[in-house]
Amino acid sequence: MLLIAPSILAADPLNLERDVLRMAEAGCDWLHVDVMDAHFVPNLSFSMETVRALHRRFPDLPLDVHLMMDNPENYVERFAEAGAARITIHAEIPGNPAAVLQTIRGLGCRPGLSLKPRTPVTDILPLLPLCDLVLVMTVEPGFGGQSFMADMLPKLDQLRTAGFSGLIEADGGLDEETVPLLRARGLDVAVVGTALFHSAEPGRMMEEMRGKGTGHKA
Ligand code: DX5
Ligand code: ZN
Repeated sequence: MLLIAPSILAADPLNLERDVLRMAEAGCDWLHVDVMDAHFVPNLSFSMETVRALHRRFPDLPLDVHLMMDNPENYVERFAEAGAARITIHAEIPGNPAAVLQTIRGLGCRPGLSLKPRTPVTDILPLLPLCDLVLVMTVEPGFGGQSFMADMLPKLDQLRTAGFSGLIEADGGLDEETVPLLRARGLDVAVVGTALFHSAEPGRMMEEMRGKGTGHKA
């Protein structure tokens, strides 16, 4: 069944605990934490301390940390120690993604790899055996509230054709119209920011996105 990971980038920064509690009570499966370094993407967001506070307050909610930063190798240990369950890095980093993915696994976290829209699946084929998850960006990373890029849909088929058996996650512009398109291609995890945090009925929306089923904890 499709897992739902609300992205706190879309939460009210002055009421983060209230908004996360609302998502947890609505039945979300994970919590997606978008970390931005103002260099890899032109925006700045959360730190390890936010992850630590979230893990202390919501210990049963797996934290799915998406590092949109140039040098994740310098920070993965601190995010793991802060309580990240999953750490996803980008294929486009200047360093060596394979080494960072192996470090993440060695820290006891689930490693993931994310693709910007312009990065083809063929670029990451050698890295797939090191990943528990691939995050297909369906917007240019850096900001919430953007429009869904439907031309990213074939990447899901390409990943499965390449024999990837891990989780496929999508992030950016997901809502009740776009999630069914992704689910039809085997999406496993939906990262949803604006649509969920601006919804009056997030629980109903999550059920709709799951196709009326019930979400299972990761
Ligand atoms: C982009 C961010 C967003 C966010 C979700 O870097 O990763 O995709 O999580 O944004 P919405 O759901 O508001 O498009
Ligand atoms: Zn993200």
